[in-house]
Amino acid sequence: MKQMQFTRFGNPAEVAEIVEVDPPGPPGPGRVNVQVLASPINPADLLNMEGRYGAELPKLPQTQGAEGVGRVTEIGEGVDNVKVGDLVTPPARGMWREMVQGPARGLVALPPEADILQLSMLRANPATAWLMLKDYVDLQQNDFVIQNAANSAVGRHVIRLARSQGWRTVNVVRRPELIDELTALGADHVLVESEDLDDEVQRVTGGDLPKLGIDAVGGVSVQRLARCVADGATVVNYGLLSGDPLMIDARETVFRDITLKGFWLATWFATADPGEIAATYAILGKKMAEGLLEVPVEATYPLSKVKEAVAHAARDGRSGKIVLTMGDD
Ligand SMILES: NC(=O)c1ccc[n+]([C@@H]2O[C@H](COP(=O)([O-])OP(=O)(O)OC[C@H]3O[C@@H](n4cnc5c(N)ncnc54)[C@H](OP(=O)(O)O)[C@@H]3O)[C@@H](O)[C@H]2O)c1
Repeated sequence: MKQMQFTRFGNPAEVAEIVEVDPPGPPGPGRVNVQVLASPINPADLLNMEGRYGAELPKLPQTQGAEGVGRVTEIGEGVDNVKVGDLVTPPARGMWREMVQGPARGLVALPPEADILQLSMLRANPATAWLMLKDYVDLQQNDFVIQNAANSAVGRHVIRLARSQGWRTVNVVRRPELIDELTALGADHVLVESEDLDDEVQRVTGGDLPKLGIDAVGGVSVQRLARCVADGATVVNYGLLSGDPLMIDARETVFRDITLKGFWLATWFATADPGEIAATYAILGKKMAEGLLEVPVEATYPLSKVKEAVAHAARDGRSGKIVLTMGDD
């Protein structure tokens, strides 16, 4: 079977290669074999291939692809949460290959009527948006949440999920042409990042300042968000898009009691109960089948064109995700 791998860290388009490897053997107890159907290229995939992601570097050679969707082809002894033919989120990391084997723990059958490309983007970004909205601040109806990189897939999920729960959003972007699009998606306010962001937020919220800030950019953008939230609020950082260390002034943390926390989905997977994981994806799978979590796709590429695909994914100003589709070669 075909698999993408890299044997050194560097520019993803240069280090990605396609190799032939043996498919997985029959699954052991509690494990499943899954035929991969589609897997998106996320910023974390590119960072990992560059050697800039996670607490420690992965061992090489590695394949990539933290999320995706596949069909169960074989189940091991004792597996009763999914059956052959079910669509599932990845049982293991490394979805840029034709087959994958992993534990059935935490898997749930996804709605067969949902779009395959959309389902391939269910595991990471919708769950990240959902958990950040739910797990840090006890938001009440009409409370404001502020986020930057609001045009990202995670940002779009924050907008849709917050609206479905009755929470209002202030969304910060770096390109004014996104304002109408995000407003149509359900954003209450869309602002272009600037040094006067806090004045703008004061104006659009009428002083009812956000209790939760969600940051994917880092650097000075953290400080800008911290100045926009209410005293005692929490700012959650989940991304490194600027590549700069997080900046926050002691005036915010000491005098205004702002808390800065980090969120990493991998930690949730490692610590959450399998029942909670399955329940979360059952909720999100249903919302996706209802069309609530739709993310634009700019292009799909077969696995054999992975170099072109990662180069495309690294471009600024895309209008949607780049998704690898397996079996299209
Ligand atoms: N911590 C976790 O567990 C976790 C889980 C999932 C995702 N993430 C992180 O979430 C972030 C978004 O991921 P995604 O898949 O949703 O992204 P995506 O859909 O590929 O979109 C990338 C977004 O980043 C924006 N961007 C890029 N560089 C920027 C910069 N220097 N300043 C401001 N904005 C910038 C782009 O803005 P333009 O539209 O203007 O180009 C675009 O909106 C990434 O950092 C990813 O690593 C973290």
